[in-house]
Amino acid sequence: MDKITVVGAGNVGATCANVIAHKDLAREVVLVDIKEGLAEGKALDIWQTSSINNFNTRVVGVTNNYLRTKGSGVVVITSGLPRKPGMSRDDLIKTNANIVKDVTEKVVKYSPDAIIIIVSNPLDVMTYCSYLASNKPASKVFGMAGELDTARYRAFIAEALDVSPKDILSLSLGGHGDTMVPLPRYTSVNGIPITELLGKEEMDKIVERTRFGGGELVNLMGTSAWYAPGAAAAQMVEAIVDDQKRIFPVCAWLQGEYGLKDIYMGVPVKLGKRGIEHIFEIDLNKEEKKLLNDSATAVKKVMKILDDMKIF
Ligand code: LAC
Repeated sequence: MDKITVVGAGNVGATCANVIAHKDLAREVVLVDIKEGLAEGKALDIWQTSSINNFNTRVVGVTNNYLRTKGSGVVVITSGLPRKPGMSRDDLIKTNANIVKDVTEKVVKYSPDAIIIIVSNPLDVMTYCSYLASNKPASKVFGMAGELDTARYRAFIAEALDVSPKDILSLSLGGHGDTMVPLPRYTSVNGIPITELLGKEEMDKIVERTRFGGGELVNLMGTSAWYAPGAAAAQMVEAIVDDQKRIFPVCAWLQGEYGLKDIYMGVPVKLGKRGIEHIFEIDLNKEEKKLLNDSATAVKKVMKILDDMKIF
């Protein structure tokens, strides 16, 4: 790919650009920020690791110069305020909605064909916001959440079993909030059902820790996480750029799938060069369905706050 843009040179955006460069996913990564010098500085710092880390991807930083992003194939939007301790992701909506709308409009102006990946919080509703601002098909505007949530879940399970996290296969559905739905019934260690290896009580604890995985980090650091969110977004970019057809949980626009309509939420999808190429509908039992519906209710509540802002 010629060009990938990452908007927001905060911790998440810079990490994402860094991982994209390490993976050599494009000829050029453009990092954009509103703060004078920040994107330029971080991009220059990343570029100066190229000979050490053996990559060719040029990393360029700009302040608010969207013309420089022209012709990007994929754009990752990380803009907005991060959480502080005591805040939920939903508390960020009013500030971040205006930012994400403005950024999306500028991105689409210069890269009308770009696939847009949203990372800003509250994730599901910011993805909805970008979709409304973009006038693009929903297969090309989606959010990164499930990839991060399952990465945390897999790390916790790998630790509990003392096995490689690479061998943990898993799925999480629902919104990127405390109502997310990690699915033990669809979790295995390279095919061995997790239920064979860990007891219910231990799994319940891991599911609970995963649900509050972002909050755990906010409490430790005073701000939200960046290594795993940045790397997870870069992995989605890789699946698109290399047309890998990988199956990830992605925040996608649902039109009847899982009995849900007009809502952005996490579901398993196939990611390739056309963006979301398929949404998988898996069988859920009564309890899982209830958890998913509760998560949808929570997301809809925040979507309504955005609708009531009347910015579209
Ligand atoms: C987290 C933030 C990025 O889950 O939503 O860490």
